[in-house]
This record gives sequence, structure tokens and C-alpha cells, in this order.
Amino acid sequence: MTESSDTPKFAICINRRFGSDRPSCGTRGSQNIADAIEAGVRERKINVMIERIVCFGMCNNGPNMRLIPGGAFHKDVSLDQVNELLSMLESECGQKDETDEIPAIPGT
Ligand code: FES
Repeated sequence: MTESSDTPKFAICINRRFGSDRPSCGTRGSQNIADAIEAGVRERKINVMIERIVCFGMCNNGPNMRLIPGGAFHKDVSLDQVNELLSMLESECGQKDETDEIPAIPGT
């Protein structure tokens, strides 16, 4: 199975709203969480695309993320929860088929 429009997405808000009175996912560490989730998805070959997005409109509760389509919002996520999220993604989305690897071009 290759990534296609049917491949589920895990959307992670990385928005950074500058100003001490304006909370945002980016200023609460969502970039590091997105990096850790992307690394875990690659390592565990989970069949999901990570999509970094800009704002779900719930900035006071971030970092926010959700599985699309139809997943519940995960709010106030911390790095400590990455393994738990990866297990959820693996359970919901499965693993990529080993045949998904792009074959080498003969003669290269
Ligand atoms: S900044 Fe993440 S939901 Fe708005």
C-alpha cells in the first residue's frame, strides 16, 4: 500500500502565536512532539501521514492533534505521551506493507 489520498493523516498543530498573552501549540513544544511522532512513525512503519498544520482554533488547550478522518482531538499533549500516541496510530492505521518500499533503479 502506498501513501494516497486514502492514507489516514495525523494532523499536528505547530502554530506559533507570538506574544506572552497568546498561547499556542508551537510555543508549548508541538514542533518537538511532531518531530518525535514522525520519527516513531518511520521507525514503526505506521501507515499514516503526519501533517503539520496551523491552528485548530483551540489554542488555549495545545499542543493539539488529531487523526483524520474522524479521530478524537488529543489536547495538551506532551512528549511523554508520544509512545502512547504511536501505539494508538499503529492500532488505528496499521503498518505499511513491506512492498511499499520504492525499488532501486536497475543499474544505479
Ligand atoms: S495554535 Fe494550535 S490550535 Fe491554535
